Amino acid sequence: MITLDLSGRRALVTGASGGLGQAMAETLAQAGAQVAVHYRKGQAQAEAVVQAIKGRGGKAQAFAADLSDLAAVEALMHDAGAALGGLDILVNNAGLDGSRAEVGDDDPRHWQQVLAVDLLGPYYCARAVLPYMAKAGRGVIINITSVHEFIPWEGYSAYTSAKAGLSMFTKTLAQETADKGIRVVAIAPGAIQTPINQAVWGDPRSLKDLDEKISMGRLGTPAEIASVVAFLASDLASYITGTTIAVDGGMLIYPEFRHGG
Ligand code: BGC
Repeated sequence: MITLDLSGRRALVTGASGGLGQAMAETLAQAGAQVAVHYRKGQAQAEAVVQAIKGRGGKAQAFAADLSDLAAVEALMHDAGAALGGLDILVNNAGLDGSRAEVGDDDPRHWQQVLAVDLLGPYYCARAVLPYMAKAGRGVIINITSVHEFIPWEGYSAYTSAKAGLSMFTKTLAQETADKGIRVVAIAPGAIQTPINQAVWGDPRSLKDLDEKISMGRLGTPAEIASVVAFLASDLASYITGTTIAVDGGMLIYPEFRHGG
């Protein structure tokens, strides 16, 4: 029998008070890892995630930090590392789409904010966690990008740029750390049903439009991303580094080309 065993591992998941991050934290804990549940504003939600994990016999603790602030990220890693007795898994999940506006009609401060959370945040977190991984002699950093590291998206140039940047950061950091027992991998989720895109799946017409962009014809679930996070964090994925795994129901295989062309 193949087992996915993360017992003895210490994981930090950013943006884990809801959406994808919540499912990731719960799944990692189910696989045996101790989990630091990072949140920015949703303290009550983060505590509920911690309680859910503890209720199933797992170990978790919540930590707050603004990921766009380097000093706050360093304090986060220090506190989580001390509480968990080290850190060997980092999931850079926190992110925002930003508001839709074409370049020129947009507000440059919004562009900066998206870049700060979606690209600088993962960089700060990775940078601050590396000493812990070096100490442990092992580590896995999982960066959550998006199909929009590949697919342009009108009105979301900050988001697509940040995600493409995070993809290249993944590859470069993987190259830098491969000889230190550290793997760095990206997951590109497609359209997953979470609060981030609720306005789209909450409306039947836009949901139909979105489903047509997915080969499998349906949105994914947070659990379908979380299971890949657990796999990549485990030794089952011991030879995977510096690449992006798409988990998108076939969004990247151009479903519109089933006809015509
Ligand atoms: C975005 C979602 C969007 C999906 C597919 C994701 O990266 O966060 O809002 O529905 O890509 O376009």
